Amino acid sequence: MVISICQAVVTYVPLLWMVRVTDGMPDPAQRDLLMRQEASRQTGGQVTLTVAEQKLDAYLHQLKEQEMSAAQFPPAIHFFKAKPLIQKSPIFKLLQKMPKGAALHIHTSSLVGVEWLVKNVTYRPHCYICFTWDNSVRFLFSERQPFPRWDCFYWRLLETLRAQIGDPTGFDNSLMQQLTLFTEDPDVEYPSQEVVWERFEKAFIAAAGLITHAPVLRDYFYKGLEELLHDNIMYLEFRSGLSRTYELDGTIHDKVWTLKTFQEVTRKFTADHLDFLGARVIISVHRALSVSEVKAAVKEAIQLQKDFPDVVAGFDMVGREDSGRSLWYFREALSMPAELGVTLPYFFHAGETDDDGTNVDQNILDALLFNTTRIGHGYALAHHPLAKELSRKRNVAVELCPISNQVLKLVSDLRNHPAAVLMSEGHPMVISSDDPSLFGTTGLSYDFYQTFVGIGGLKANLGTLKELALNSIRYSSLQAHLKDTGLVMWQKKWDAFIFSSLNHL
Ligand SMILES: *[C@@H]1O[C@H](CO)[C@@H](O)[C@H](O)[C@H]1NC(C)=O
Ligand SMILES: *[C@@H]1O[C@H](CO)[C@@H](O)[C@H](O)[C@H]1NC(C)=O
Ligand SMILES: [Zn+2]
Repeated sequence: MVISICQAVVTYVPLLWMVRVTDGMPDPAQRDLLMRQEASRQTGGQVTLTVAEQKLDAYLHQLKEQEMSAAQFPPAIHFFKAKPLIQKSPIFKLLQKMPKGAALHIHTSSLVGVEWLVKNVTYRPHCYICFTWDNSVRFLFSERQPFPRWDCFYWRLLETLRAQIGDPTGFDNSLMQQLTLFTEDPDVEYPSQEVVWERFEKAFIAAAGLITHAPVLRDYFYKGLEELLHDNIMYLEFRSGLSRTYELDGTIHDKVWTLKTFQEVTRKFTADHLDFLGARVIISVHRALSVSEVKAAVKEAIQLQKDFPDVVAGFDMVGREDSGRSLWYFREALSMPAELGVTLPYFFHAGETDDDGTNVDQNILDALLFNTTRIGHGYALAHHPLAKELSRKRNVAVELCPISNQVLKLVSDLRNHPAAVLMSEGHPMVISSDDPSLFGTTGLSYDFYQTFVGIGGLKANLGTLKELALNSIRYSSLQAHLKDTGLVMWQKKWDAFIFSSLNHL
């Protein structure tokens, strides 16, 4: 670490000394050189663009200037209000077509758009619904009338209820509302992080009854991969708790069944779509568990990774950091793999907080001390110079999920997102969407838009986009030879993208 700082100083300081001042005015040539030097440090700053790429870059720059001078600048306002504006943006349309590489931070529980869940899944036979005392919903597929549960006293067959209500569109819209965070007036409806996180967890629970029905899970996962491919993404690393799934007759399947299902569906999908590379899972457990429960989960994850090495990428802890337990709290559980002499790669969510100086705020450093492979969010990283240096030195990429950070109220105007600092110094970084269906996004294009236009500002260019897409393959958990395959596949798509974009200018 110390050495790298000294090197940086040696490289850059002499330049400053070389700035000659004549008649009080700095030398323009030196000024130009310094500006280019600084620009070269940003994400993509070292990427050399081809002539064709430079053309597209100039066009993008011009579009960006236009969007920045418009009356409403989408990254500056809440995503729920910005979404229709973004959809009209020509930059966004280009980003949709751009091959973005891999999505490395998505939770399976929120992989597929709610439109499909409601319009397709809730229309399947044997689907029961119940309304809880706190105005939430639960779903259950069952051969016969389900028994009352603690949270659900009265189950009704959805088909019958829909027929009785007589306004299927209105009813379906109300169901969709239960499954996303979307609202017309987010600032009033979600006055604090507490309120929005509560709704967030409620929506998860509501969707669970649908997604954990075994036949639905297959279609759901396939559909999720389809949505990603449609957004020009070629590989997925998803977080999943491997929830138990159930059949119509009440049979329960274990985690191994769920893992095998992911494996089978991924195989089928990649066979059906040769330009998709695959999907791997990061097994996740909730930070509300006890140390002994997490110990058991770590042991189990070690075993599952041994049994399914091509599917299981590693392990993570999920749930809101501010109200949950810190990584250090679980240190006994998390040091088990090292003690047992086995490797279980970690992909920790860390620093998804603005609580500076708390235990939670230390999660980033702890994640690094536990040799995390990447950092989920790392929102707080810019405030931790030492952790930042470590993460850079060890090539531990930050998974930036800008829309998630905004909707969950860490930042309101994305121009102020701390990742702007990380981008300006070319910190290892990938872009992801966290919980797309809850936020009303699909694929990565919306998050790329916010990163490219909002956080990166005018200085982010086509080189930035190229580097971010390449990073997603570089920083994935794929084995070296698969990364190479992925990079070759990506380059082909990229060249086609540049060619067709220029043809449409
Ligand atoms: C529901 O989704 C399944 C799987 O994607 C598909 O085969 C089926 O046709 C869909 N049904 C409707 C009514 O859209
Ligand atoms: C992290 O990696 C270092 C160096 O490889 C190793 O010595 C250490 O045991 C690892 N720590 C944990 C908690 O895995
Ligand atoms: Zn997450």
